[in-house]
Amino acid sequence: MWGGRFSRGPAGIMEEINASIDIDKRLWREDIAGSKAHAAMLADAGILSADDATAIIGGLDQIAGEIERGEFAFSAALEDIHMNIEARLKDIIGEPAGRLHTARSRNDQVATDFRLWVRSACEDMETALNGLMRALAQKAETHADAVMPGFTHLQIAQPITFGHHLLAYVEMFARDADRFADARRRLNDCPLGAAALAGTSFPIDRNATAKALGFDRPSANSLDAVSSRDFAIEALSAAAITATHLSRLAEEIVTWTSPLFGFVRLSDAFSTGSSIMPQKRNPDAAELVRAKTGRIVAALNNLLIVMKGLPLAYSKDMQEDKAATFEGVDALALSLAAMTGMISDLEPDRARMLDAAGQSYSTATDLADWLVRVPGIPFRDAHHITGAIVALAENKHLALDELPLADMQGVEPRITQDVFGVLSATSSANSRTSYGGAAPVNVKTQASRWLNQLNKES
Ligand code: ARG
Repeated sequence: MWGGRFSRGPAGIMEEINASIDIDKRLWREDIAGSKAHAAMLADAGILSADDATAIIGGLDQIAGEIERGEFAFSAALEDIHMNIEARLKDIIGEPAGRLHTARSRNDQVATDFRLWVRSACEDMETALNGLMRALAQKAETHADAVMPGFTHLQIAQPITFGHHLLAYVEMFARDADRFADARRRLNDCPLGAAALAGTSFPIDRNATAKALGFDRPSANSLDAVSSRDFAIEALSAAAITATHLSRLAEEIVTWTSPLFGFVRLSDAFSTGSSIMPQKRNPDAAELVRAKTGRIVAALNNLLIVMKGLPLAYSKDMQEDKAATFEGVDALALSLAAMTGMISDLEPDRARMLDAAGQSYSTATDLADWLVRVPGIPFRDAHHITGAIVALAENKHLALDELPLADMQGVEPRITQDVFGVLSATSSANSRTSYGGAAPVNVKTQASRWLNQLNKES
């Protein structure tokens, strides 16, 4: 494709480091769409004859069929997807193939292809996130009133509900989906027609190609068009943040499924056994989701490091953008699918969670709140009194609601029998009705709000 000024071909090792076809063959659909839009525009602008454009577009359609059917022979000697397709076009239609590259360079070609690919990857991630959110919201609705311990420092803190815990992740994943949507909106400028770096002297119509490819507008600066990859960095940032959220949920699943917790059971479909210990049910999928975060964050880091320090405009360094992006997106897609499957299938052990929710004096705050609400004691004093009552109960190896009233009155005479109404884990969780709180009524409202919204979106 560029042999005119060369007297011999590249060294083997040069071909190996230079070729990107093994990676960028995934851009074939985008490359063909971009070339068809370019050829149609060239013909409309009178730069290419209608016959040549028809031959080019027909040839490109034939190539698409060949690739789709697995009949296309990709060649490393032809370096990348752009030259592989153009060379095949020449085999099929002959001389007019050479006119396709008028007013275009591989620099604007690859920038266009890659933007199209990242755009649809963002859409796919949004769809996958919506699926995961739906699974979480459904599980939350079913278990809106399942009381479980809420933790801080992984110490039992206060009773909450399982539904509330799951909906916390729905909020996080909704923001992640929004970040992908935002990245998608911002990347939607079309580089095609920027040519190598300076634009072209041909009377091309960049609005037409932008429109044909579903872009909002042509990019306004030819140097920016061919040398920016922040659109991929932004999508990978969204991916990295999503992956850290997935990883936290995965970690909770690992903890919850440990027999020491026994809060949830994963289905057989999402558990693995041990080759030596017949009793084992391992949460391998959750562990792998947790670990894939490494790849996804690394992909972001990879591309940031590739791009830093590159002068304008194109440098071959940028060819490395695709491996990083594909790897990050693939790992995230797999993680989202696995997490959605695990969540849909998992079953909480409601009795065990309720039992744990009542441990470790988890309703001490409810006792302090009662002292504020009923006898009108200032919260700081109520906190101190409650501490003394908890210490007394602990000495007697009793739970708060097992401690006799007389013992409590020994610490604070204004306590009455009425206090027992707030000391169980269930009454505690039920009482958290402030906006955004963990009470079952709130969870039901929020879960159905999410399910309505998600059903509208799909
Ligand atoms: N395979 C190249 C890439 O992915 C295409 C652009 C090549 N441009 C160039 N000037 N060598 O970046």
